[in-house]
Amino acid sequence: MKIAVLGAAGGIGQSLSLLLKMQLPAGSELALYDPAPMTRGVAVDLSHIPTQVAVSGYAGSDPEPALTGADIVLISAGIARKPGMERSDLFKFNAGIIMDLVQHCAKVCPKALIAIITNPVNSMVPIAAEVLRKAGVYDPRRLFGLTSLDLVRAESFAVDKLQQGVAAGQIPVVGGHSGLTIVPLFSHQSGVAPQEADMVALIEQVQQAGTRVVEAKAGAGSATLAMAYAALRFCLSLVRACAGDKNVVEYAFVEGGNPMARFFSQPVRLGCEGVVEVLDYQPVHPIEQAAIEQMLPTLNKEIQQGIDYALHVLRD
Ligand code: NAI
Repeated sequence: MKIAVLGAAGGIGQSLSLLLKMQLPAGSELALYDPAPMTRGVAVDLSHIPTQVAVSGYAGSDPEPALTGADIVLISAGIARKPGMERSDLFKFNAGIIMDLVQHCAKVCPKALIAIITNPVNSMVPIAAEVLRKAGVYDPRRLFGLTSLDLVRAESFAVDKLQQGVAAGQIPVVGGHSGLTIVPLFSHQSGVAPQEADMVALIEQVQQAGTRVVEAKAGAGSATLAMAYAALRFCLSLVRACAGDKNVVEYAFVEGGNPMARFFSQPVRLGCEGVVEVLDYQPVHPIEQAAIEQMLPTLNKEIQQGIDYALHVLRD
């Protein structure tokens, strides 16, 4: 399989590329693209790690050599937050980047599974959908917004709360990927579910986790390392599903299957063509249900912002 990473010279891109070089199945191809001239060097550097994953790197203004023949495209291209910024502050800059890159995907690898890491995810995924639709190649099963970092964080915080050595299991996170739209479902924790006060605190901890990283990095970037791990996990799930494993379930921000919003982060069973089935995440605790209902207007507004932007630009 060929996996393309767009934004490969960045904080997430480099870490993710390293993890992919080490963990993709033997025989895979890893193609790195970033306008930054160093991208070829990143590929050369990675190629010195003795695994059977071939790495190529492309810089400059043309992503198409990296995208040609790609089965999976992971996009972490664009600017990240600085202290004091919300994810929505990235919209203006990153929207144009996503439009451009997805237009190239539509032309060169229209059947690829595309996973968008770039923020604000809640708006970038709808933009990508409209670009693919305009090109006549949109298949909602194949487009994902990556929210797996929220699951990674929820699991990690639950383990901290439970004390060392106790597994919390996977904690579902539904909704979207910005502030209040991130709704972790700690009531699904294996073993004893947290008390209500703890649940409220844990939900807020996950919602604010990205901002805490941005503040702690003091202007030098946002989450890159845990994000790279989360994206690796998601990508390996796609690879397993493509290889025929019928039991691969991930949470991702996808279109369809939820009456509350056109795009929603929810559990999906994966197959070679992307989403095979949207799964149920009910029942939820009343606190979680209230959090979902409370955030819906924000989620739908951010989705609509992406759609409106794309339709406006594509009309010209
Ligand atoms: P970064 O600034 O370190 O790297 C971004 C890279 O994108 C740079 O190397 C830049 O040259 C490249 N780039 C710019 N224009 C491009 C284009 N047209 N095509 C390809 N590459 C292009 O940023 P970082 O930390 O890697 O973050 C990337 C994005 O991921 C940000 O938008 C950030 O907010 C988002 N993010 C998403 C998370 C999620 O959970 N979905 C978590 C953390 C960050």
